[in-house]
Amino acid sequence: MSLTNFRALGRSGLVVSPLALGTMTFGPGGWNADEAASREIFHAYREAGGNFVDTADIYSGGVSEELVGKFIRETGSRDDIVLATKFGFNGSSSPLTATQGGGANPHAGGAGSKNIHRALDASLRRLGTDYVDLYWMHIWDGVTPVEEIVQTLGDLVRAGKIRHYAFSDMPAWVAMKAATIAAERRVPGPIAMQLEYSLVAREVEAEHFPAAQEGGMGVMPWSPLAGGFLTGKYNRDDTVDTGRLSGANPFGDSKFTDRNWTILDTLREVAVELDCEPAQAALAWAMSRPGVASTLVGARTVAQLTGNLSAASISLNDDQMRRLNEVSAPVPGFTSSLVSPEVRKMLYGGHEITAWGE
Ligand SMILES: NC(=O)c1ccc[n+]([C@@H]2O[C@H](COP(=O)([O-])OP(=O)(O)OC[C@H]3O[C@@H](n4cnc5c(N)ncnc54)[C@H](OP(=O)(O)O)[C@@H]3O)[C@@H](O)[C@H]2O)c1
Repeated sequence: MSLTNFRALGRSGLVVSPLALGTMTFGPGGWNADEAASREIFHAYREAGGNFVDTADIYSGGVSEELVGKFIRETGSRDDIVLATKFGFNGSSSPLTATQGGGANPHAGGAGSKNIHRALDASLRRLGTDYVDLYWMHIWDGVTPVEEIVQTLGDLVRAGKIRHYAFSDMPAWVAMKAATIAAERRVPGPIAMQLEYSLVAREVEAEHFPAAQEGGMGVMPWSPLAGGFLTGKYNRDDTVDTGRLSGANPFGDSKFTDRNWTILDTLREVAVELDCEPAQAALAWAMSRPGVASTLVGARTVAQLTGNLSAASISLNDDQMRRLNEVSAPVPGFTSSLVSPEVRKMLYGGHEITAWGE
């Protein structure tokens, strides 16, 4: 496989590379890349044939969008690139005073229509373009009715300001409800789900993956290297590196657990067999999972990116897949017990039934 093995993102005509360039590292910040390094990363991805670039209004306080827009203009590649950005985190530029109750403008965050219009206009300004190809709801706000989200984003598709929309970090039912409403009303629906997914984070397989399949949404894993953990550069007895996980972990839970070290041991064995880096084997595993359309690669340096992109040419054999799947198997939850082969056999009078699509 290569980056030009394009595929449709969900049930849509948007064709994307199997590895997408994540640009959360672009711009100022402790574990980020400065403008020169970001430009090098962007060029390396484009030279490898990649067409799918993912940013967000919140990354580096908007600087990531500005850099991505600048690099696209410098290379005259707007028509070639599938440009994705996100809304949802509060982007207020004017804190409220103490007498106003403090905090920030509540209409500068969330998925309400008022914020979506504000956020998109600000993103288009920073990106220096008049449309984005894919607009992500970055995170479910737990407040806005799904009907309002579908209405607002569908109207933006019709207005030509976005070509498609999709959901990141939401309960599966939210995306499925949106897909159902859209299908019933014959209006644009979500085409993808962006989720934390890696060998050490497979919980989304239970509810999100089946919902994505049913709703025509492609899965796009984020943090497929668990923020650098699956590169193998940290060790059980020495977790200090110059990398992101050495400092304050920006994503909550520590990756340094007994379970994760055991998964990493198997990943290292498989990587030795394949004569590649653990990072490449981890990305190859994510890319080959059923339902995964395009996997986000994050990098702080061009060397990291180049290494990671070569995952596209790595294939795991059945035995390697089985060992990785077994060691990283998520704890079965309620849904898994319902859809087990044993239960199906019991329901169908002892017969093994093959469902549509299996
Ligand atoms: N929707 C969401 O909520 C969400 C959340 C997070 C990310 N994302 C998206 O997903 C993209 C990827 O996420 P991520 O950055 O967390 O992915 P990741 O691949 O799990 O981690 C990337 C980090 O790992 C380290 N690394 C990567 N390749 C390496 C290599 N070959 N050797 C050694 N270290 C390496 C680098 O950090 P250090 O060098 O600092 O260790 C790099 O910044 C982001 O850019 C963003 O677009 C989305």
